[in-house]
Amino acid sequence: MGIPVLTIDGPSGAGKGTVSRLVAKKLGWHYLDSGSIYRSLAIALQLASVDLADVPGIVNVAEAMALEFECGDELAVRLDGVDITPQLGLESTGVVASQVAALPDVRRVLLQKQQDFRKPPGLVADGRDMGTVVFPDAKNKVFLTASAAKRAERRYKQLIEKAIDANLIQIQKAIEERDRRDMERENAPLAMARDALYIDSSDMTIASVVEEILNLIH
Ligand code: DC
Repeated sequence: MGIPVLTIDGPSGAGKGTVSRLVAKKLGWHYLDSGSIYRSLAIALQLASVDLADVPGIVNVAEAMALEFECGDELAVRLDGVDITPQLGLESTGVVASQVAALPDVRRVLLQKQQDFRKPPGLVADGRDMGTVVFPDAKNKVFLTASAAKRAERRYKQLIEKAIDANLIQIQKAIEERDRRDMERENAPLAMARDALYIDSSDMTIASVVEEILNLIH
């Protein structure tokens, strides 16, 4: 596989999405937001009223769902032809995504859908297990994180800007709970690849994170 991949893994709210999109744009590479695939599954399950205890039912939906991605300034996703972009970013979607992401059969079914994004001239892949499981042979790997307090503060600001009611303490609690679930699951947990560059963005601007990653590539 000669097509280059840059993987950017880390916990939710570390700025992976924004940074990955900017780096992909600079390099002229494709972009995979792997979290959006798990989020799309969460929405598909809600639409089909599948119980979260019904593992075979969940796997069936994962196998059958047809996803189309459009990568503009914001990512737009169509599920079986229907635009699900508005539901994609909801906190409730992220929670269900994190729950179903812990199921080994779900991860197995979604593996190929993610690897299909590897196309010339290259790919920037953002998620939890991009460097460890999905693209272990990637030449460049980054682990991007920030303190839970900083991530909560950023999320809080985003919500307030969108005029959505928010509570900082509750947000931090939800972030810590999601970190725990993503790190403690047995299958492909959130973990730093041994050969990844560790970046703590707590006190960095987006531009300086992007610059550090581009320096790694060049
Ligand atoms: O990055 P995100 O918040 O959009 O991801 C939503 C959930 O999907 C996350 O809490 C865990 C799961 N996920 C995963 O298990 N593996 C990935 N590569 C990406 C996301």
